[in-house]
Amino acid sequence: MIVELNNINKSYGKYNILENVNLKINSKEKVAILGKSGSGKTTLLNIIATLDRHYSGSLKLFGKYTNDLNNDELAKMRKGKLGFVFQDFGLLENLTAEENILFPSRSAGLEISIDSYYEKLISTLDIGSILKKYPLELSGGEKQRVSIARAMIKKPNILIADEITSALDPYTSSELIMYLEDITSVFKMTLLIATHDLKVAEICNSIYFIRNQRVFPVKDVNEAKKFFRGEVNEKKYK
Ligand SMILES: Nc1ncnc2c1ncn2[C@@H]1O[C@H](COP(=O)(O)OP(=O)(O)OP(=O)(O)O)[C@@H](O)[C@H]1O
Ligand SMILES: [Mg+2]
Repeated sequence: MIVELNNINKSYGKYNILENVNLKINSKEKVAILGKSGSGKTTLLNIIATLDRHYSGSLKLFGKYTNDLNNDELAKMRKGKLGFVFQDFGLLENLTAEENILFPSRSAGLEISIDSYYEKLISTLDIGSILKKYPLELSGGEKQRVSIARAMIKKPNILIADEITSALDPYTSSELIMYLEDITSVFKMTLLIATHDLKVAEICNSIYFIRNQRVFPVKDVNEAKKFFRGEVNEKKYK
């Protein structure tokens, strides 16, 4: 088990955002977190990524209760084992694509070399021809592929992605989903992805839907559609 959430409750002031969340992620599992805007997807990812520690309940990562770890130990775990990809790419404008991929991990003290892993990453994401370009010279899909390479370069145990297709047009978004599928299968990745795009959920083997502060396991994309439309009887899940 890579991730284990037990009875997580999260609120902002008087607003409950997540209630009694239990979730387990196994190694090599691909998990989609679906839910409407404002339902708590990013909040949940931030908790799992140990970026937010203001909640009740327990979180276990790689067999360790995060409550037993201090900030330095958590930062070390994040740095070495978690790869992040965000909606807004987060690339540095004054660095080339290649520098953007290598720089963050190297400056975090990780040993990164231009080896066969790197070559495989670049070819799987098909970004070999744009490595010398700057972010301003890249399309949205290319930027997102560079940011996936940046997250993957340190060989993370889990790739955590938040709405990585939402800034892209439908065609580019479908293309990115295929690249993501390739990355997860070539590198046998564990994936945790928050999205409101059902096409992303199609490449995952576990789907959860956040609704009314609760996280529901969903059998497949069709059932997820019913959740989006509000057509499910949540009581049967209790
Ligand atoms: N720092 C904060 N302070 C107070 N409320 C917050 C804060 N961050 C988020 N919220 C609230 O928590 C709820 C969940 O937000 P969250 O960002 O997790 O939603 P989301 O599912 O990721 O939405 P989206 O699909 O739009 O990204 C929202 O109602 C939001 O307004
Ligand atoms: Mg969000």
